[in-house]
Amino acid sequence: MLATIKKAVKKILVLSGYEIRKKRPAPTIKQHINFEYLEEEPSIETSEVDKNVQVGKRTIIHKSIVSGKNISIGNNTSIAYQTLILNQSENNLTIGNFCSIAPYCCIYGHNHNHQTLTTYYARQRIFKEDAGIDAISKGDTIIGNDVWIGTQSVVVSGIKIGDGAVVAAHSTVTSDIPPYAIVGGSPAKIIKYRFSDDIIKKLLELQWWHWDIEKIKRNKHLFYGDLTLEKLNNIVE
Ligand SMILES: CC(C)(COP(=O)(O)OP(=O)(O)OC[C@H]1O[C@@H](n2cnc3c(N)ncnc32)[C@H](O)[C@@H]1OP(=O)(O)O)[C@@H](O)C(=O)NCCC(=O)NCCS
Repeated sequence: MLATIKKAVKKILVLSGYEIRKKRPAPTIKQHINFEYLEEEPSIETSEVDKNVQVGKRTIIHKSIVSGKNISIGNNTSIAYQTLILNQSENNLTIGNFCSIAPYCCIYGHNHNHQTLTTYYARQRIFKEDAGIDAISKGDTIIGNDVWIGTQSVVVSGIKIGDGAVVAAHSTVTSDIPPYAIVGGSPAKIIKYRFSDDIIKKLLELQWWHWDIEKIKRNKHLFYGDLTLEKLNNIVE
């Protein structure tokens, strides 16, 4: 009798979703981010970020999920509301410094295999093997530095997005993007470049995204107003 009651209660909990919620790790690391006083430590607010994910200094992850293997996120990057970054493949999924990833984006380091009998994760879920055996990838997924990914965009596995690139809202990135290109659409195509060739060349040489914060502050003039070659030729060391 007691066993029957226990079984019924368990079934109710499973059906109500309580069992599933209970199994999740406590998600909240911080309840509130004070953007004016960013600390050296990453600010991870009400997000689920797996312990093995590398997250750099002053990076903000806001109400998002970062889950899986071989994922690293650089310094000073912002991952906004309801974004999902997932990698179940053996390849790397890397995001650089000073990137801005808008709300509702999905960045995937893996695909389901569509050349096997089923795209369903049969080997994991029926034959009880590691999820990685069902996940395939076209190689490392690398998002460079100072990349802005517009809202509701999707990046699929094996893609390289160059430094300074912009992905317009609602795009699907299925091929590599050169540095400082602005791409849009599904599949995303080059719309234009952010700067002239000589400015892009100079920026790629400078790699300002690797400067320490003090050097960035000494070069405040670069961060205000439209960028010119003249500004870039007046760097304070
Ligand atoms: C990409 C973006 C920055 C372009 O801004 P812009 O430099 O002002 O460019 P324009 O609006 O002049 O558009 C240039 C061309 O790109 C096209 N385009 C703009 N946004 C596009 C999009 N999301 N998808 C496809 N094409 C797009 C325009 O239709 C235009 O095409 P045309 O030259 O054939 O007329 C902007 O459209 C965008 O998508 N912003 C992202 C917004 C967002 O996600 N914000 C989140 C805040 S974190």
